[in-house]
Amino acid sequence: MDTEIQGRAAHVAAIRERAEAEMKAMGIDEAFIDRLVETFYGRVLQHPTLGPVFDARLSGRWPEHIQKMKSFWSSVAFRSGAYGGKPVQAHTGVANMSPDLFPQWLALFSETLSDIAPNREAKGWFMATAERIARSLTLSLFYNPALDDPQRKPA
Ligand code: HEM
Repeated sequence: MDTEIQGRAAHVAAIRERAEAEMKAMGIDEAFIDRLVETFYGRVLQHPTLGPVFDARLSGRWPEHIQKMKSFWSSVAFRSGAYGGKPVQAHTGVANMSPDLFPQWLALFSETLSDIAPNREAKGWFMATAERIARSLTLSLFYNPALDDPQRKPA
């Protein structure tokens, strides 16, 4: 039993070490994640359609949200396990949430990364990750089998 636990701990440590090396090679560190989250949500608040949707839900709770998003991105980048939330549940019941907000979110994220990411690889990594999560959130929140149409091209 002990060796099984030790084996698993070694496996987790190896995954973390690899993630840390991968991020370091792209110039991604905790300081950059902090800056990205602060800059991005600063712009979200100024955005004509995203701003009101976020602020209606987060008014008075922005500092906690920013902190949560830093630990979320840090967890995804460094496999640190720092974030233990439930993103799908968190987005359920957000007033005026709609599928077309996701491309807007991604466009703003992309613009922010173009302005501040240390290089193209770093931007590429954040965008690919955000696109995967956005697709998965969109499906979890809005997929309706009754409207499924295999002929329909993605927007
Ligand atoms: C149109 C797009 C989006 C909108 C309007 C939106 C809105 C929100 C709002 C209002 C919250 C706060 C929920 C609360 O604490 O009551 C939240 C939390 C969160 N969002 Fe989004 N979001 C969007 C897209 C995304 C995407 C693309 C990601 C990931 C790349 C993401 C990741 C998260 C995470 C991790 C949380 C924290 C969940 C928790 O409480 O543990 N969101 N979002």
